[in-house]
Amino acid sequence: MSTSNIGPKGPVTKTGEVVIDHVDHRTGAKTGIGWFLNRNIPGETSWFQTLGFAAMAVFGLQAVTGIVLAMYYKPEPTQAYASIQDITNHVTWGWLVRGMHKWGASAMIILVFLHMARVFIFGSYKYPRELTWVTGAILLIMVMFMGLTGYLLVWDQRAYWATVVAMNITASAPVIGPYIADVLRAGPTFNAHTLSRFYAIHMLVIPGGMATFIGLHLFLVSKLGISEPPWSKRATRARRAEEAAARAAARDRRPQGRREVSVDPAPQTLNVEAGQ
Ligand code: HEM
Repeated sequence: MSTSNIGPKGPVTKTGEVVIDHVDHRTGAKTGIGWFLNRNIPGETSWFQTLGFAAMAVFGLQAVTGIVLAMYYKPEPTQAYASIQDITNHVTWGWLVRGMHKWGASAMIILVFLHMARVFIFGSYKYPRELTWVTGAILLIMVMFMGLTGYLLVWDQRAYWATVVAMNITASAPVIGPYIADVLRAGPTFNAHTLSRFYAIHMLVIPGGMATFIGLHLFLVSKLGISEPPWSKRATRARRAEEAAARAAARDRRPQGRREVSVDPAPQTLNVEAGQ
């Protein structure tokens, strides 16, 4: 029992407990949250394994600042640029919210790439986490699309021409390129409807997809557990035991009376702890 359970309880605590118990009894929420959060993690887990959460935290920040911006932004070709100027210069704290959203976009892309590099270097994409990697790769594509579609919304010369170039590059991709470009442009040419199309994709389509895939990604992380870092002593011991078992099995399979000299006497991993 924790020390917070000792002593008389005030009416607020009692009411809170009654409400939580009631909801838990009907929904099983405590068990679900417990399954998701209370997990054993490898002893040598380090700060490198917090990059995914950092990316997720920035996604939350982007969602909140994006909702505030959407309250003032006007996705009309004649009003979009002026509304952005209004947000920056007149709306209370508008400059701050817009700045957070703009820099948050870059921060998120950097964090996602760092997270992916960590996963790659640690070899965390290997069995049994292949699907976690696949859902992550889909998230990466969606993050890039958020950057592309958000960039146009400012509707200044730079945003306009940069997106025209991006659409021309997309259209030059083989077979499906022209179709994807048509869908993104809302037609065969870059026009006023393109802004509404990008706005809908940026505000609704991709955030919905990202929320779904972050949920799937986290479910897989919870179900499969966090992988051990490459320098984990426990993982090295387990690998050595597996290799010894494989060598023993190979010896047992050898035909009687024949001598083989091809069994590797000193696999690479044996050197890992040799310095200790
Ligand atoms: C929006 C983007 C993403 C978010 C919010 C996200 C979130 C997370 C979180 C919170 C974790 C658990 C903690 C950690 O290992 O850092 C994780 C693990 C993982 N992520 Fe991501 N991730 C994203 C993108 C990616 C990408 C682009 C890839 C690879 C293509 C990827 C592959 C993985 C894998 C394989 C794991 C399991 C790592 C392990 O078990 O050690 N993720 N992710």
